[in-house]
Amino acid sequence: MMENRNSAGILGTGWYVPERIITNEDLEQMVDTSNEWIVERTGIHERHAAALDQPTSDLAERAARMALEDAGVAAADLDLIIVATLTPDRVMPSTASVLQDRLGARQAAAFDLSAACSGFDYAAVVACQFIETGVYRHILVIGAETMSKVIDWTDRNTCVLFGDGAGAAVFGSVEDGLGVQSFDLGSDGSGSELLQIPAGGSLKPLTAEALLMHENCVHMDGRAVFRFAVRILGETVEKSLAKAGLKKEDIDWLVPHQANTRIIDAAASRLELPAEKVIVNIGKYGNMSAASIPVALAEAAHAHRFRKGDLVALAGFGAGLTWASCIMKWAKED
Ligand code: ACO
Repeated sequence: MMENRNSAGILGTGWYVPERIITNEDLEQMVDTSNEWIVERTGIHERHAAALDQPTSDLAERAARMALEDAGVAAADLDLIIVATLTPDRVMPSTASVLQDRLGARQAAAFDLSAACSGFDYAAVVACQFIETGVYRHILVIGAETMSKVIDWTDRNTCVLFGDGAGAAVFGSVEDGLGVQSFDLGSDGSGSELLQIPAGGSLKPLTAEALLMHENCVHMDGRAVFRFAVRILGETVEKSLAKAGLKKEDIDWLVPHQANTRIIDAAASRLELPAEKVIVNIGKYGNMSAASIPVALAEAAHAHRFRKGDLVALAGFGAGLTWASCIMKWAKED
């Protein structure tokens, strides 16, 4: 951290998942799969799905209200709202602007950030720059997704993996020395074809034919993404640790992106972390993309797992390809 900067950290967290649950047994009725395959290959037992008339902003609002209350910050005192999502309500306007109105955050600037599953970490790092320089005092960062709306429910390679949810954190100035210690953000666009929604953008506007081919849905080379993820998740945390002059054994908690338990286990093993230091909730939620990390973080915080001063490492990867990690000393009194 540069001298004369404020320390930036999390003042409060919140999360929300929609009521409807889709179990592996439900999926057995929809595609050629089995509960055993899904549990063994991914660790997922069930996931939540938004109602058809429930947009991403609805999930985001509920998580945001919980985080604001936890932080003791009024919406009117927010300076900026960043929503990390790949499933915005609409391409235009931003979901963050919709949310700003709903929350009554009249002073807040607002924008969406696109970095797929790495989005929350990216947004957290952006927020911290404004806090550290003293430009802004309170920033609401949300990872929110309705993946159920961009999934091809006839494709067993993808439909078993994803779920809907939202996680939020209010960032602000914290006690000197606490809060964010370092971060690592990265991208390798040469892998942009590996994980994509082919149609609906300027490259391939949505047509009847594209809809018929399900090109408005997530397409993924699972094996290639798996290989990338297993390498990058541990590597990015090691880079962040080195930047802060910290070692693996200094980590109290790893909050990884929840895409596959085998990917999480590989990262934990590389970082020599015992299972009890790794926050895992993939079994009940699946991969919620940008919402995975903040939901895991908020659940753990509200379960009183973090003590003030604990070293918490957030680490994600996703489409882009992108990756991100952020290391913080937990600043909130339990
Ligand atoms: N049920 C039964 N069989 C299946 C299913 C399913 N749901 N899905 C795939 N299979 C089959 C495949 O067709 C394949 O059959 P084949 O050998 O006859 O072709 C077989 O299972 C094995 O397939 P693999 O791809 O080798 O299975 P793997 O063990 O790699 O697991 C998985 C697949 C779970 C997708 C894994 O590769 C993975 O987790 N990849 C990373 C995915 C990921 O993290 N994506 C999200 C990134 S985050 C973001 O930005 C959105």
